[in-house]
Amino acid sequence: MIRRSKLEDADAIYGLYAETAAVPGGLARCREEITPTYIHTFLRRCIADGLSLVAVDDDGRVVGEVHASRCGLRVFGHVLTDLTISVHPVCQSHGWGRQLFEQFIRVVTEEMPEINRIELSARESNTRAIRFYESLGFVVEGRMRGRIYGVSGLYEDDIQMGWLRAPGSGS
Ligand SMILES: CC(C)(COP(=O)(O)OP(=O)(O)OC[C@H]1O[C@@H](n2cnc3c(N)ncnc32)[C@H](O)[C@@H]1OP(=O)(O)O)[C@@H](O)C(=O)NCCC(=O)NCCS
Repeated sequence: MIRRSKLEDADAIYGLYAETAAVPGGLARCREEITPTYIHTFLRRCIADGLSLVAVDDDGRVVGEVHASRCGLRVFGHVLTDLTISVHPVCQSHGWGRQLFEQFIRVVTEEMPEINRIELSARESNTRAIRFYESLGFVVEGRMRGRIYGVSGLYEDDIQMGWLRAPGSGS
């Protein structure tokens, strides 16, 4: 089941992000940078001024989460930025990420008419994630050279991607 996140999900989301970040090469944050404060901060912000969804399995466990929010400036009021998605390592490649992200775009398209643009970034070596985002309608818009210190000890490029609402859809 995919549903909107609640503040009471914070502990479960913390566990999810801690496990996902423990596997290098995916999330930008490393395990030590996943803290309860980080989780509470983005959850509060996204519930108030953005969108956060969780994927919950048949046993009620939170197995995935996706979120993005507005940045607060009026000129960017139509933009959800810094989208982050995490599926528990044990549950990856079983379709949860696609379900979560398709639902995220559906909610934005149908229930958030003020939002016309979603932004995210991915390290260049995370080619599966980049292809996944492209399959959902995201386009590579830029490349910040040498921005990410990669697992291999080399600097890699940070790929900027954007999604734009199709004209006339949903609003
Ligand atoms: C990227 C991620 C959210 C995809 O969710 P998922 O549930 O594993 O993916 P799904 O099973 O729904 O498959 C969707 C696509 O994701 C990609 N994918 C699958 N497993 C993946 C993995 N372990 N890492 C990266 N991408 C993966 C595939 O390209 C797949 O496309 P396909 O359906 O055409 O094969 C998830 O694997 C994850 O949390 N990875 C670690 C954290 C991460 O990389 N976050 C994104 C940072 S930019």
